[in-house]
Amino acid sequence: MIKIKNSGEIEKMRKAGKLAAQLLDHIEPYVREGVSTLYLNDLSAVFTKMHGAESAPLNYRGFPKSICTSINNVVCHGIPSEMDVLKNGDIVNIDITVLLDGFHGDTSRTFMVGDVDCETRDFVERTEKAMHRGIDAVKPGKYLYEVGKAIEKYIGKFGYSIVRDYTGHGIGQKFHEDPQVFHHFTKENRIRLLKGMIFTVEPMINMGSSYRVKTSRSDGWTVTTADGSLSAQFEHTILVTGEGAEILTKTGSVLKPTPRLSPPREPGAKQYPR
Ligand code: MF3
Ligand code: CO
Ligand code: CO
Repeated sequence: MIKIKNSGEIEKMRKAGKLAAQLLDHIEPYVREGVSTLYLNDLSAVFTKMHGAESAPLNYRGFPKSICTSINNVVCHGIPSEMDVLKNGDIVNIDITVLLDGFHGDTSRTFMVGDVDCETRDFVERTEKAMHRGIDAVKPGKYLYEVGKAIEKYIGKFGYSIVRDYTGHGIGQKFHEDPQVFHHFTKENRIRLLKGMIFTVEPMINMGSSYRVKTSRSDGWTVTTADGSLSAQFEHTILVTGEGAEILTKTGSVLKPTPRLSPPREPGAKQYPR
């Protein structure tokens, strides 16, 4: 059952989406060499609370932290840790979901740490573009599979692969609602898009030719590429409008001015919010 949101719900989704985007903007300057993913987690948790929201991932089906941090060959659901310190040349996806006034905003970006080689840079940029191709394919009256079709058409020519085991999703009062949004073309997504639907578009692209992934047996969460290749992802929460799509998690106006902690100076130093 796919929910059509009414105008009051849409307004709340806009606010949640904006806060989510704002949080990514807030942590961006801290995504650099020497910073641990736990530090980014704690910054995010503080920011979210400060704005009267909750971190939706925390305790979601037992997830132990407030955000997901997925480095290099980690596809998604990486668990922030003091042990995972960003290195020059890494790519890291930060996926955050806030719950504000009963509604969710879900967004992620892949950041490049320091000097990233140009093949990887191209790969990350193309992944973002793939997400936008998918979003641009959203039109009321069309089928949802146009999203996957557009992504596949664009990304196919580079020899990359589109992860199939994880999809976009409807979102609202629940973190994950119907429908599943596939990022490759499949008839399973023969669903009419209607004004007022809200879902995420969040393609996970593997740099190698295999879309296969595996889940860590030790933590039960961390998903990595089966072949060890890099993986990148971008995510927006979108609303189907009368004309196309409105991105609810777009970087935009500040809800409240945000005090910035000074970014850590010493690469490699123990990072923890003071
Ligand atoms: N934010 C992820 C998504 O885009 C879901 C993370 S679930 C968690 O759907 F439990 F790992 F947080
Ligand atoms: Co997400
Ligand atoms: Co999502």
